[in-house]
Amino acid sequence: MLRTHTCGQLRSEYVGQEVTLVGWIDAVRDHGGLKFVDLRDRYGRVQVQISPDSIAGDALATLRFDQVLKVTGEVQSRPDGMRNPKLETGDVELIAGSTEIIGECPPLPFSPDSGDQVNDELRFKYRFIDMRRDEVQRRFRLRSDMQFAMRQYLHREQFLDLETPMLTKSTPEGARDFLVPSRLNPGEFYALPQSPQIFKQIFMISGFDRYMQVVRCFRDEDLRADRQPEFTQLDLEMACVDEGDIIGLIEGLMEHVVKEVLGKEISGPFPRLSYEEALLSFGSDSPDMRSDLRIQECSDLAEGLGFKVFSGAVEAGGCVRGLKVPGGGQWSRKEIESLEPIVTQQGAGGLAWFKMTEDGPAGPVSRFLEGEAGATLISRLEMETGDLACFIADPQTRVVVNSLGQLRKELAQRLGHIDADELKFCWVEEFPLFDEDEETGRPTPCHHPFTCPHPEDLENLESRPLEVRARAYDLVLNGFEVGGGSIRIHQRDLQERVFAAIGISPEEAESKFSFLLEALKYGAPPHGGIALGIDRLAMLLAGLDTIREVIAFPKTQRGTCQLTDAPDPVTTDQLTEVGLQAAPREDPEEKSG
Ligand code: AMO
Ligand code: AMP
Repeated sequence: MLRTHTCGQLRSEYVGQEVTLVGWIDAVRDHGGLKFVDLRDRYGRVQVQISPDSIAGDALATLRFDQVLKVTGEVQSRPDGMRNPKLETGDVELIAGSTEIIGECPPLPFSPDSGDQVNDELRFKYRFIDMRRDEVQRRFRLRSDMQFAMRQYLHREQFLDLETPMLTKSTPEGARDFLVPSRLNPGEFYALPQSPQIFKQIFMISGFDRYMQVVRCFRDEDLRADRQPEFTQLDLEMACVDEGDIIGLIEGLMEHVVKEVLGKEISGPFPRLSYEEALLSFGSDSPDMRSDLRIQECSDLAEGLGFKVFSGAVEAGGCVRGLKVPGGGQWSRKEIESLEPIVTQQGAGGLAWFKMTEDGPAGPVSRFLEGEAGATLISRLEMETGDLACFIADPQTRVVVNSLGQLRKELAQRLGHIDADELKFCWVEEFPLFDEDEETGRPTPCHHPFTCPHPEDLENLESRPLEVRARAYDLVLNGFEVGGGSIRIHQRDLQERVFAAIGISPEEAESKFSFLLEALKYGAPPHGGIALGIDRLAMLLAGLDTIREVIAFPKTQRGTCQLTDAPDPVTTDQLTEVGLQAAPREDPEEKSG
């Protein structure tokens, strides 16, 4: 090694020893002829005293930020009054005997001190500089610790760490595939895996029994703050299990991870909600349980209230739901009305509300509350003096769910329910097996087509597929879906029925999934599993709000890499080699952030 110690390592016990350090210059202070340099590496910082006779030529005058310096010298105690209690190495300093600049560094394109204030384009273009910052280093250490803790826990639980191919066949998870042309088979393509789903099921059929992998997945879909085209999963699968076994295992895993990474105790069991209940009570299939605000069904009271907006929505097949805002009665009409754009953005016609004052209900809805239905409404929402109640009515239940879901999020913020340090997990279960495809009107899998239908709903698979529930579960943390899994279909005939229900013909099933259908014939045990989004978990444990910050080299909104500038055009020769021709670009706009 070029160095004998690290910058963060030196303490009083090293006084009198000769050591060699290599680090980046973090600060230079001039004291007459002497320079005091703070030297930094991953492990910390230490002060180095450099005199003109310990460095060649006039290099002393050229020392500057982020040059890489190699210093050999003796560790000394700092004089009384000169110790720095803020620095772990603050009791000592290194007196340079010889100093060498081993990595030059011109002035940086941005000052790391300005941190997250610097524009993202610059930060990610010069990610190597950005990642030198303590804060950013801490995020990646957290991510690394998290993955280590996951492996440690699963290793103890007898999981095998097994790999699956990256050059493979399409693995449907609801996104587009990234395709890779095959040179040896012109005109044919591999797909990068959207997940290792089918392979892990095959491992179960092979008898591996407990599989895990920290694995990269690729999905060509529109990006958001919590989505990247390539991302990492902690993927696992177990044989001979039901929902409760997977849920119990993951609760234990999360307890271990949170303890190891953050030193915090959390304890299961986490609340378990059905999908229906999550939409009804929280307006979301990934509810933030840090707030206890709950939405209430009020449709049954619409007629009795005599409020046309409410009864009209219910008669048209929709619903009316309400949300109590404790203490919201103190808000002015203007403050309350400022909530309206949140719901109209989701398609709601407006926001109906009343306050409970000492003189009874007040506000737009109050005049409908005088009868019996009004009294029931007030008691159902448990309204007390000083509270506010908000309502959405719409012929489409989806609009009511989404509007109140967004409203609940905003209110939870305004009411101070969202504690950044709190971690609140929950499970959402009993998802529908299928959604209706907006374009074709056909059922499409909500999760993936290998998910087992709920046994009670099996008879409806062909007749009323949209009513069939799935044996699927999502893990939700602070309002983010951080994991999803299911019990799988392990009988070939049921798998064929599900393919048929989503319009996959037997021929198509054979061409796309023959290997799975074959495998299911030869002794397949019942099995199930889950995949956790490592990027999302790291983001949440680090208290951040985008996964870009916990991915070393993330992609932009347009799917480009700012560091390498990928993707790139390739030469005609390269294309010919793989049997392709490039179509002219339709969108000549430069790729950019
Ligand atoms: P699913 O599609 O739910 O399940 O993915 C599992 C978890 O991966 C994370 N995730 C993402 N993270 C970042 N960027 C993305 N584009 C992205 N897409 C998904 C989420 C999600 O909960 N094969 C199944 C798992 C199984 O059934 O066992 C699967 O992939 O946190
Ligand atoms: P109106 O009867 O049109 O005067 O509306 C009375 C109240 O109902 C107003 O506060 C509107 O903002 C509100 N409102 C209108 N449409 C809806 C809706 N779809 N859901 C809830 N409230 C609504």
